[in-house]
Amino acid sequence: MVDTTIDIVPMEPVHIDQVHTIECASFTVPWSRTLLLDELGSPDGLNFAAVARQETSDIVVGYVCARMCCGECSIYKIACRPEYRRKGIGSRLLRHIMNRAVQHDVHDFTLEVREQNAAGRAFYENRHFVSAGRRKRYYDDNREDAIIMHFPEKQNRTEQD
Ligand SMILES: CC(C)(COP(=O)(O)OP(=O)(O)OC[C@H]1O[C@@H](n2cnc3c(N)ncnc32)[C@H](O)[C@@H]1OP(=O)(O)O)[C@@H](O)C(=O)NCCC(=O)NCCS
Repeated sequence: MVDTTIDIVPMEPVHIDQVHTIECASFTVPWSRTLLLDELGSPDGLNFAAVARQETSDIVVGYVCARMCCGECSIYKIACRPEYRRKGIGSRLLRHIMNRAVQHDVHDFTLEVREQNAAGRAFYENRHFVSAGRRKRYYDDNREDAIIMHFPEKQNRTEQD
């Protein structure tokens, strides 16, 4: 864990520039600022930022974007600033949206992750997600397969704090 105070807060337009910087450092096909902003307008969205409180300013060190639909929560994005990784921030963000979803009686969590994204897959496996299938050549840029990952519902209340 990190020493600086880090708060998980609802993502707001003021965060978007920093979120976009992390997005560009994290994904080969990043979402645009406009797409990220549009996501904030979704009534079913769960969009949160991890903000490190510093003496002179706050910095966004991670974020998560997910949406609830038809009793299911799809996790679209989770990323941390490269220098803030492996400090438990991604896990905090994931726990936060899962707890929020459960408050809305949504217990089913799914996501797609690139087959070659070993860190992303290890992260989700660490959070008790399991592989549930594959979408062949899902990503347009390199025709990479997507691994579908799912959170077993029965673990919700026992494994997540
Ligand atoms: C995936 C990501 C969000 C994880 O965030 P994080 O804050 O670094 O993750 P945590 O510190 O909470 O890690 C929790 C556990 O996940 C696993 N894990 C996380 N990153 C890992 C890595 N690079 N390699 C192997 N295991 C990893 C470990 O088990 C880790 O526990 P440990 O540090 O005690 O060994 C971060 O690596 C990232 O921003 N990646 C780029 C974006 C991305 O690929 N997102 C996922 C697809 S949407």
